[in-house]
Amino acid sequence: MTKLTRHIVTVTKLAMIIDSSDVCRRRHSYKVERHSILICRRLKLPLREIRIIKIASMLHDIGKIGIDLMIIKKADKLNADEWAQVRLHPGIGANIVAQLGFLEDAAPVIRYHHSRFGGGGYPDASRTGDDIPIGSRIISVADAYDAMINDRPYRKAMPGEAAIAELNRCSGSQFDPKIVDAFLSEIKA
Ligand SMILES: [Fe+2]
Repeated sequence: MTKLTRHIVTVTKLAMIIDSSDVCRRRHSYKVERHSILICRRLKLPLREIRIIKIASMLHDIGKIGIDLMIIKKADKLNADEWAQVRLHPGIGANIVAQLGFLEDAAPVIRYHHSRFGGGGYPDASRTGDDIPIGSRIISVADAYDAMINDRPYRKAMPGEAAIAELNRCSGSQFDPKIVDAFLSEIKA
């Protein structure tokens, strides 16, 4: 087994641990990785960049390990304090991954996966547009789509067409338009 293969096996196991913490996630990390790779290939990103995005997409929510599980599983709307905790997860995740040597390149991608293309988002809104790592912009679209088409504790799954309409509605504000276009071209193909 090559070093890279061993790393991917380790990351896959970590992703399974993240998803097993919450029944609603149902292989969410794996599906976000699949969608992200489709986008990477459509955009013809270099192989090295794709490898980093593959790892970051599988581990994008690893920081939720540091959040109270009662909050992650809560069926009601979160209060302000609970939201404040959830907003910490990209930073916690980036800090975890940054300490794992071979995964450190994935840290900035994880840190900014909830940054909004047009400004805002969390944990900090310092980056917008193309200053957000491309991997983070890709994961943002892949994550939102998979979240929308699956049940969450506080709402039912949306039909695929409604999720696509939502991606289009938020293109340019929440999402990078060229990433939305690349993803929609892939899933409609
Ligand atoms: Fe997240």
